[in-house]
Amino acid sequence: MKRILIIAVAFLIAAAPSFAQVSIDRKVDSLLAIMTLDEKIGQMNQLHPDIHDLETEIRSGKVGSVLSVVGTEWMNRLQKIAVEETRLGIPLLNGRDVIHGFRTIFPIPLGQAASFNPEIVREGAAIAAEEAYHEGINWTFAPMLDISHDARWGRIAESLGEDPLLAGIMGAAMVEGFQGADPENISGIAACAKHFVGYGAAEGGRDYNSTNIPERRLRNLHLRPFKAVADAGVASLMTAFNDNDGIPMTGNTRLIRDILRQEWGWDGMIVSDWESIREMIAHGFCQNEVEAAYKAAVAGVDVEMVSETYIRNLKKMVEDGIVPISVIDQSVGNILRLKFRLGLFDNPYWQPAEAPSSEKALKTAQKAAEESIILLKNTNALPLNAYEIRSVAVTGPLADAPADQIGTWVFDGDVTRSVTPIEAIREMYGDKVEIIYDPILNYSRETLPSDAEKRIRRLSKADVILYFAGEEAILSGEAHCLSSISLQGGQEQLGKLLKETGTKVISIIMAGRPIALKPILENSDAMLFAFHPGSMAGPALTRTIFGEICPSGKLPVTFPVDEGQIPIYYNHNSTGRPSDGKEILLHDIPLNASQTSLGNKSYYLDSGKDPLFPFGYGLSYTSFEYSDIRLSKTEINPDESVEVTLTLKNTGKMAGAEIVQCYIQDEFASAARPVRELADFKKIFLQPGESIEVKMQISPSAMSFYDINMNYSMEKGRFKVFVGKDSDAPLVGTFRL
Ligand code: GLC
Repeated sequence: MKRILIIAVAFLIAAAPSFAQVSIDRKVDSLLAIMTLDEKIGQMNQLHPDIHDLETEIRSGKVGSVLSVVGTEWMNRLQKIAVEETRLGIPLLNGRDVIHGFRTIFPIPLGQAASFNPEIVREGAAIAAEEAYHEGINWTFAPMLDISHDARWGRIAESLGEDPLLAGIMGAAMVEGFQGADPENISGIAACAKHFVGYGAAEGGRDYNSTNIPERRLRNLHLRPFKAVADAGVASLMTAFNDNDGIPMTGNTRLIRDILRQEWGWDGMIVSDWESIREMIAHGFCQNEVEAAYKAAVAGVDVEMVSETYIRNLKKMVEDGIVPISVIDQSVGNILRLKFRLGLFDNPYWQPAEAPSSEKALKTAQKAAEESIILLKNTNALPLNAYEIRSVAVTGPLADAPADQIGTWVFDGDVTRSVTPIEAIREMYGDKVEIIYDPILNYSRETLPSDAEKRIRRLSKADVILYFAGEEAILSGEAHCLSSISLQGGQEQLGKLLKETGTKVISIIMAGRPIALKPILENSDAMLFAFHPGSMAGPALTRTIFGEICPSGKLPVTFPVDEGQIPIYYNHNSTGRPSDGKEILLHDIPLNASQTSLGNKSYYLDSGKDPLFPFGYGLSYTSFEYSDIRLSKTEINPDESVEVTLTLKNTGKMAGAEIVQCYIQDEFASAARPVRELADFKKIFLQPGESIEVKMQISPSAMSFYDINMNYSMEKGRFKVFVGKDSDAPLVGTFRL
């Protein structure tokens, strides 16, 4: 029976002009035409080995994809059942969270964003895809594109920061790295943009919490990176857990059908998040799983991740005319299209192959880590010169924490591949300087031991102290939110005690989120920050500390003074009473001060108006001079760009890279626009004394937004242009549209 049907399908396809030219859509339509309703609904069902009897379910034609099956032998066994023991033999997808590496771990996505280097991000994703495919994975649940302004939210670690342009560029680079260059012919593994949409704005920074984002804000901020990756050909997309203004994303017909499908014309496959269909009952949006299945299906969620409401309820609703068969056909069409794009029908099985080279992977992971390191402070402390110092003390809970330095979302990370800072320092500089090692704290939450003072005295005998502090990996990631973003345990105290010894202290912070750094910053002569930098944290940090390379990372997210300032971000609106930073602060208020409602502005009495560090901030060991900055035009028509040209010179003594940033402000518009928006950036590497002409573009899309009437438009008026090394960049000119 099955062979007859396969021949029938082949005939239908072959009858077309020529097999090679048959479009994927023709193949999808031909296959849909002969599928039963059960087989169609089976494709919409995704199961997990820890919960379901995969072999039985696959054999009964009730499974279109699985997740978290790791191992080609196991996956081939399941695939063989799907291909050879079901009527139509439709191959399976196997998804996995390959978020920032598979066996070899790259910096967490927030760290990769700090590199402002899409090429190294693409390379990392390509290596992750190679390693994951080698072990039976053909679909990853990445890139995560949630825009977040909240360091309390554990998943900010997984995000690409607060700026929609940067997140979109980095997300598109990951998509190309995972999938290869041709989305119609995926040579790697299918990517999955998540979580659609607005999840990063969870109220209070509490995971899974409600968001209340009006449509204009969704379109002008949260949807932008998703549009960028949709245009880049991302194969799939995952709906988010949050409800927005009471409507769970997994049942949000407006956003999925009207915007994603209708407006954008995106034809990829949509998967729910883990049980997010059934969770619409807990949301109070559905009374039971029948209603949950109904609302998710008609909203356009193609695949149900593990909650099985589709397989249990859709058939009857179609037979009763409640769910039109067209809804099922659209979803199954999206699923089959992805499987054709992946070439699964031609090559459903994993062939035995050489394991990808871990050496090449680790080399790339080290480069990615190096480019993600941000220098936050340096008062004549860095870089160390191994020929001028005799001894270094190494301390802190992250000096030798191979599992913590690789951060969150590393289900398959090979911790044995980690090289820790103490290992790298011993390996690379153990023959040049004396190394005194004592972590004092064994993990980030530990309080100071009773003998700390004595042990610190021993460390202080060194010429310089390297203090590796930060967060255990488990303190960020999904559902791991904190109401305080200060360093945990005795870390701040340890920093203070180290400083009080009088020995120079260099703090190196590895964390999954922005940290309230002020207390430790005050006790550091220099500070490097790395968002959990991955397997090669040790060599990357060591090379930076000892000046083999120059730190070039920039903050992809604002660092608040403390959690009280959250949300605080650079691309904010002006408000009617923008602070000018001259307001009276808490300790300057005279006793018995008279009350007044005059001259009030938007700021905090205690922490003022500024964050600790702004978006785009990062220092260097060398220095750069910006000169001869000019705009190509001061008057433009709506379809024109403005080119910003400048000369950048390395005026220091070390080779290094500068991330030149260009921001604009649309001064007046039918809906208030942010005081700054990143319009373009360039990462430029220069030798000492070298200078180069840098060109950046302010494109029509940078000037466009959803206006008062929700139309995507550019409005006449004046734009300010800011160019510099971070989002506090100076005004360099204006142009008029
Ligand atoms: C999780 C996450 C999602 C992940 C999925 C599968 O709950 O929200 O990002 O891809 O489940 O692990």
